[in-house]
Amino acid sequence: MSTIHGLEQELADEICELAQDLGIQLTENPVVASAGVYVRGPWSFCLAMNLGLRCGSRVLCEVLEMDVRSLEDVYNAVLGLKWDTLFDSEMTFSVQSSSSDTSIKSNALNLKIKDGIVDAFKRALGRRPNVDKESPQVRIMARVHRGLLSVSLDTTGVPLAMRGYRSATHDAPLSELLGAGLLRMTGWQKLCRELRKENPERVYFSRVETHQNRSAEQQESGKESAGELKRRIPEAIVLSPDLIDPMCGTGTFAIEAALQLLNRRPQLDRAGFAYEYLSVIPSSVLKQEDRIRRSLRAQELSLLDAFKKVAQYRRDAMGQNTPSDAVSPFLLCRDTDSSAILAAKKNAENAGVTKLIQFEKGNVLGLEVHAPAGVVVMNPPYGVRLGEEEQLKGLYKEIGDTLKKECKGWQAWILAGSTALGGSVGLRPTRRKKVFNGGIECLWLQYVLF
Ligand SMILES: C[S@@+](CC[C@H](N)C(=O)[O-])C[C@H]1O[C@@H](n2cnc3c(N)ncnc32)[C@H](O)[C@@H]1O
Repeated sequence: MSTIHGLEQELADEICELAQDLGIQLTENPVVASAGVYVRGPWSFCLAMNLGLRCGSRVLCEVLEMDVRSLEDVYNAVLGLKWDTLFDSEMTFSVQSSSSDTSIKSNALNLKIKDGIVDAFKRALGRRPNVDKESPQVRIMARVHRGLLSVSLDTTGVPLAMRGYRSATHDAPLSELLGAGLLRMTGWQKLCRELRKENPERVYFSRVETHQNRSAEQQESGKESAGELKRRIPEAIVLSPDLIDPMCGTGTFAIEAALQLLNRRPQLDRAGFAYEYLSVIPSSVLKQEDRIRRSLRAQELSLLDAFKKVAQYRRDAMGQNTPSDAVSPFLLCRDTDSSAILAAKKNAENAGVTKLIQFEKGNVLGLEVHAPAGVVVMNPPYGVRLGEEEQLKGLYKEIGDTLKKECKGWQAWILAGSTALGGSVGLRPTRRKKVFNGGIECLWLQYVLF
């Protein structure tokens, strides 16, 4: 399954959780690869991954893996496959391929694979499927890397990142998939799973993990030894169902957080996956689609249940004095721009989660928190053009000062567009994760505030 660079481990963990939730036995544990995760399991799990995952982009079914040295090798390998058993000659198809080997150019690779498929069909049936580059029914994805050709059928179609709730847009919105993956890294998903239990216990962000993941850079700088840091960082970071995005734009973080809390899978209502066009998937498996949808739907919380669960967690796990019928929103979207607030509201409405979110116009520098613990997540502007980054450093510094002063007991995560911007925050990150946002290498930085 493909994903964004940097989210591979989150996706692998999510795959294991999905298998567990559906009682499906995977043939082996998911294996993390570059921008993807390899999974072996029953065909029904292919449908389940499409319907149930938040951190993946496409479920690809590998049909060929072979060593190749030339385009001729590629053609022969593709020709040797029984394509007429994979999809029907009545379907339209397209090939999308890439090559990192200098001896095989991507454009030529595309053509060779297409020729191999067409010729294999003609040999087997005397007829061939047509190519449709714009909206094919069957998409074939291929790549050559270090002499290894891998060819897959896309079972997804429109990428899973596109949830369908974001009709209103604003400056540089975060991909929904990336938003979901970054949230998982904060422990939000772990908290949501605990909240849904009958007798939830207090959940912590693992201190050991925090400690081990300190940047090697800081360790090397010798400014502070690992032991010293260990003593300074609070013993445990409590995960609390309070989340603020003070630079919310279109509201991606808060909406994804709400969907995770409700256990509502973003693609569960979607009609039209590419797997419907593939004859390689047995029709008996396709008939299981409704059952999988029902099974996932049965695990969702209603809005009322979500409020009850949050109140129960606050009371029983965190020892707070919260009435069991408390229904005030616990997610907060803020932005200085009122058009961003309007966009976030509209999108939350589309996703059916407005009741869980409070919307507020305001500067991040005026942020105040009213709970003893929680998580602040934010994606400040990066400044991609020359000179913009310099101007933004001041804002990042002020954000750091505000967090330190106002958010004691909380953890904050900032998506910084560069090491220089991250460094301008002026606080010592307790975790640094490299992730790609629209082709830009970014850092997802955690700050534990105490
Ligand atoms: C990169 S966008 C955030 C995108 C958002 N994560 C999404 O998915 O749509 C940055 C946001 O920060 C907001 N912003 C810029 N300066 C701000 C400030 N000082 N206080 C609050 N919000 C600010 C902008 O209006 C913009 O909506």
